[in-house]
Amino acid sequence: MDVATTIAEFRRLRAELEEPVGFVPTMGYLHEGHLSLVRAARERSASLVASIFVNPSQFAPSEDLAAYPRDLDRDLALLESEGVCLVFAPSAEEMYPEAYDTWVDVEKLTERLEGASRPTHFRGVGTVVAKLFNVVRPQIAVFGQKDAQQALVIERLIEDLDFGIELVVAPTVREPDGLAMSSRNTYLTADERAAATVLRRSLLLAEALYTDGERNAGAIRKAMEDLIATEPLVEPVYVSVADLRTLAELEAIEDKALVSLAARVGKARLIDNTVLPTGEGLIG
Ligand code: PAJ
Repeated sequence: MDVATTIAEFRRLRAELEEPVGFVPTMGYLHEGHLSLVRAARERSASLVASIFVNPSQFAPSEDLAAYPRDLDRDLALLESEGVCLVFAPSAEEMYPEAYDTWVDVEKLTERLEGASRPTHFRGVGTVVAKLFNVVRPQIAVFGQKDAQQALVIERLIEDLDFGIELVVAPTVREPDGLAMSSRNTYLTADERAAATVLRRSLLLAEALYTDGERNAGAIRKAMEDLIATEPLVEPVYVSVADLRTLAELEAIEDKALVSLAARVGKARLIDNTVLPTGEGLIG
C-alpha cells in the first residue's frame, strides 16, 4: 500500500492504478463503519483508494477540530488489511495553501438539519470532497448513511458539477447496543455512553409507530422527544421527520421520509437517522 501526502505524489501513483477506482474519503480514526465502506468499494472496483484528512474548513471555530481523535499509523494498518492500495493523507497546507480562495456551496439541501445547526459545515464538506474527487478521479465513491444529509449533498454535488462518479451509500454500522459507530464516541464517559443509546431507541420507536400506521410526523417527533427526555445526559439539537428529497419538515408522511436527529451528549455532538418505510435506501 502506498501513502501519498502531496497531490503531485498522489497523481504519480494514481496514474498506475487499474480502473475502475473506488474511493472512500474519511477523517481517520477509523472504525468498522469506515471499513464497511471500504469493503463496499472493494466489491465494485479494481483499485481501492482512501483518504485521511481532518478537514479544517468543515469545523466551525467553536467545534472540535483540535480535539478530533487521530491515529494515522493504526488507520494505515487497517486500510492495508482491507486491501486499499493507495492512501491520500495530505496536510492542511497541501489542501488549503495560503492563497486558497475557492469554495463549493451546495444550496437548499444544506440549509436544513445539520446545515441549520452548523451553518458553515457543508461549504467545507462540499469544497473538500470536490477537491478530493479532482485529485483522486475515482469512478466510484462510497459514503455512509450515518451522515445522511452529507450523502444527499454529495449526490447533488456529483450531479451539478458533472463529476461522473457513481455514488454508493452504505448502511450505518452500529455497536452491539445500537449506538451508531462514530469517531466522536470516544468523547463519551461511561454514563454518557449508556445514555446515548436513547438516540437509536428513539429511531426504532419512530419505525415502530410508522409500522403501526402512524403517518402524523408531529406525533412521531413528539414521541421521540419524549423518549429522549428520559435521558437527562442527552440534550437534543433537533429531531426531524423530513421529506427525503428536499429535507423539508413534513406534516404527514406520504412518501419516503428521513427521520434524523442530533444531540449533545457531554462533549460529543452525535447524529443518527433512519429512512421510512424501514429498509428503504437513502438514494435511488
Ligand atoms: P468521517 O466522519 O470520517 O466519515 C467518513 C465516512 O464514513 C462518511 O461517508 C461517513 O458517513 C461514514 N461513516 C461514519 N460512521 C459510519 C457508520 N457508523 N456506519 C457507516 N458509515 C459511517 O464524513 C466525513 O468523515 C467527512 O465529512 C468527509 C466526507 C471525509 C469530508 O471531510
